[in-house]
Amino acid sequence: MSTETNWNNARRCTFAIISHPDAGKTTMTEKLLWFGRVIRKAGMVKSKQGDYAKSDWMEMEKERGISITSSVMSFPYAERAMHLLDTPGHKDFSEDTYRTLTAVESVLMMIDSAKGVEEQTKKLMEVCRMRDTPIVTFMNKFDRDAMDAFELIDNVEKICSIQCVPMTWPIGDGVKFKGVYDLKNKTIVSFRESNDPNDPIIVKADDLDSDEVKNFIKDDQILDKLKEDLMMVEELMPEFDEEEFLEGIMTPVYFGTALHNFGVKETLDMISTVSPGPMEREVKLEPFDDSAQTRMIKPNEDKFSGFIFKIQANMDKKHRDRVAFMRVCSGVFERNTKIHHVRSGKDVKIASPLIFQAQDREITEKAYPGDIIGLHDTGKYQIGDTFSEGEKIMYTGIPSFAPEIFQKVILKDPMKAKQLDKGLTQLSEEGTVQLFTRHTTREKILGAVGVLQFEVVKHRLEDEYGVRGEYESYPFSGVRWLRFPDDKTKSSFMEKNSSNIVYDVKGRVCFSVRSEWDLKLVMEKNPEVEFFKNSDYR
Ligand code: G4P
Repeated sequence: MSTETNWNNARRCTFAIISHPDAGKTTMTEKLLWFGRVIRKAGMVKSKQGDYAKSDWMEMEKERGISITSSVMSFPYAERAMHLLDTPGHKDFSEDTYRTLTAVESVLMMIDSAKGVEEQTKKLMEVCRMRDTPIVTFMNKFDRDAMDAFELIDNVEKICSIQCVPMTWPIGDGVKFKGVYDLKNKTIVSFRESNDPNDPIIVKADDLDSDEVKNFIKDDQILDKLKEDLMMVEELMPEFDEEEFLEGIMTPVYFGTALHNFGVKETLDMISTVSPGPMEREVKLEPFDDSAQTRMIKPNEDKFSGFIFKIQANMDKKHRDRVAFMRVCSGVFERNTKIHHVRSGKDVKIASPLIFQAQDREITEKAYPGDIIGLHDTGKYQIGDTFSEGEKIMYTGIPSFAPEIFQKVILKDPMKAKQLDKGLTQLSEEGTVQLFTRHTTREKILGAVGVLQFEVVKHRLEDEYGVRGEYESYPFSGVRWLRFPDDKTKSSFMEKNSSNIVYDVKGRVCFSVRSEWDLKLVMEKNPEVEFFKNSDYR
């Protein structure tokens, strides 16, 4: 798929990797890019150098102090245009990580096989659940000591409430890891250090008592365990069902090691085969409140539409511009053609939309459903903003997610209270951080899912609004958006729990959580009130 025409016509596969830090997301990303022929050797994503991004692009990033190289990584594979969206983890974990998941059609879940499902994966999985996103699972690091394969499957099924279907099976683990058994083709797939990732060792294994298999495994205990396991797999595990996968209730599971290539190609083949292309999405019609009517927009509709799911702030004082990431949902986006920015009611002409195509990050003339484009933003755009060809529509499903860390700003100069208010309101409207107001004291509290968000707020308040403050942590551990059956229930609940009531930036009533135990108790006492972890009430 080298020509532009082929790339343009290829069905999009827009996906993301969810994992806990250190489970191997970067390593897997590198391998996927290698298979997509975007990089020639591993080690380039992490070090952010080498031949996978154009040098002038890197210069621009350095100069502007923004790192967007890895936000979207695109490559052709199996006649599809693959778009891998980055889900920042570690110290970069923020609400953007969650929001990215609203822009993809499928997800690859990476699990460290020694640890099972970890905290961050669990949280990201909850977000996937909101849209029933199809999930492919990869159990990584089998070249190290791992949990038993059945135990791992059980762990995923219990924690993620999803039916697992193994597609391969590990043969040994740690230093005794021999390879994976391909359950469909009844072959053993393995690698030696010298093997090209595209050219594994394949051992015919429909008869596990054959000399070929015995000579390859060379360990009776491991072979016996494999035989036993495979009998149990046949007895206990269901067949892969594509429909259930598409509904997000079943996940195909691959075992392997991203570092040593085991299982990587099979996983990519699966994603490129079964992951859906751009799907229809729901929009609200005017007025965009809770009473709004909705309609589904199909990707093949003539008219262009899309929404912003992420805004990358610039941390460099000299350059205030930002990049807003827009997901194209229908029609064709064309450079320099007027498009309608629904929230402001204004038409805008995008002169330099960036596309993240194959090896290049360059200005594009066109973009298609499933594509992500970067828009230069001087502060006009907000998360969730919808663009259309004039129709007053608003994409749904880009909610605020319940923050878990809270801070209060204490002004150094009390004369700056107005600027602080303005800055916080603006930053929260943009989606940088969430702002809550306490019902009783009217105190303003900032909420975030990652500490990086507070750093951005601090930096921008100083830089753009001239507000210096001290940041003190606040003893909330979460918030829940509330829905009441009627006004009477609402006022009685608010009266009884007034010290826990906070309002979000849109004035919606939320319950501030002091402890999980506390929350459980209040929920039990008020079964008629619904508590939601996101502002979309899903
Ligand atoms: P992350 O992006 O999810 O945080 O994980 P990353 O890929 O950076 O992997 C975390 C560590 O685990 C890295 O080692 C990486 O080499 C290692 N790793 C990833 N996949 C495998 C695997 O299949 N087997 C084994 N044995 N290790 C794996 P590091 O020492 O922390 O970093 P580095 O110096 O190797 O880059």
